[in-house]
Amino acid sequence: MKKRLVTIDWKDGKVIMIDQNALPNELVYKEYDTYEKVAVAIEIMTIRGAPAIGAAAALGLALAAQSTTEKNFMEVMKTASDRLAKTRPTAVNLFWAIKRIGKITQSDLPYDQKRDKIIQEALKIREEDIEINKKMGANGEKLIDVGDTVLTHCNAGGLATVEYGTALGVIRAAWENNKKIQVIADETRPRLQGAKLTAFELNYEGIPVKVISDNTAGFLMSQQKINKIVVGADRIVKTGHVFNKIGTYSVAVLANYHKIPFYVAAPLSTIDMEKSYQEVIIENRDAKEVTYCGKTRIVPEGVQVENIAFDMTPPELVTAIITEKKVIYPPYIENIPKLFS
Ligand code: MRU
Repeated sequence: MKKRLVTIDWKDGKVIMIDQNALPNELVYKEYDTYEKVAVAIEIMTIRGAPAIGAAAALGLALAAQSTTEKNFMEVMKTASDRLAKTRPTAVNLFWAIKRIGKITQSDLPYDQKRDKIIQEALKIREEDIEINKKMGANGEKLIDVGDTVLTHCNAGGLATVEYGTALGVIRAAWENNKKIQVIADETRPRLQGAKLTAFELNYEGIPVKVISDNTAGFLMSQQKINKIVVGADRIVKTGHVFNKIGTYSVAVLANYHKIPFYVAAPLSTIDMEKSYQEVIIENRDAKEVTYCGKTRIVPEGVQVENIAFDMTPPELVTAIITEKKVIYPPYIENIPKLFS
């Protein structure tokens, strides 16, 4: 088995990331020395996945902090926070990380201590992410039985976090516990995170994975060829509505119809206790992601296209939510707030 991939790191005062747009054909690491470059990397999805973009925003702010003088510190930190907050709207981890760093920026500490503490806090967010995912994996793998075939959608893996993954963390933990599972990855149009990233990282570690077109999942469920579904989340609100990659809702409806457990694995930092589901902004992305497959145009010129990046799965379709603290079951409106008490 190859050593596990590290999605984002900090080395000699610079941010290092795997270029996820180059996968699966090339495993390339890129170096970033300004928060602006990190912001662009989030926008163009060199790095993507809710916890990973949270860590990227925190490390981007560490780059901003180390570039300041005492005089321009507050102004630079504000500009950098505002810029990073505008990169992608749906994953709450981005805003959670910016807020966490913001508390230090706003504190009464002297300038040089604030600057150092921001860098330490960003590194802590990165480190914590690995630990949290492993705990989530340990909690979630108990729901997986020996010999299960587990379907996942998009990439909620090591590549979507710092290292271990949320949904794929559960799958990894089950595999490490010798449960001899099979994984099915939805290809996940339009950007193909399932085909390109989930398949890459599982295959890299020797975990058996099969890719299917998104249209195939329902038929496989009807044939009893899928035992469990585990997906990640970009945001879960206090009522238990889950925002995740477009297509997740369809999988949840199919799972419900076929009475297959549908699990969501997400850290507490993905739970938004403030916004209601009606207030969450769902990202719309460039139509070209739909009109092109690689460099080939697949939709006629002039035809209208809709490219909605995320959808919402209502709580009644979610069997359980796996967190680092515990696995919670409905009613979510009662059990989610208890996680924070
Ligand atoms: O658009 P992406 O690739 O950032 O979307 C990623 C997802 O939807 C993941 O499932 C989610 O962020 C959870 S990652 C642990």
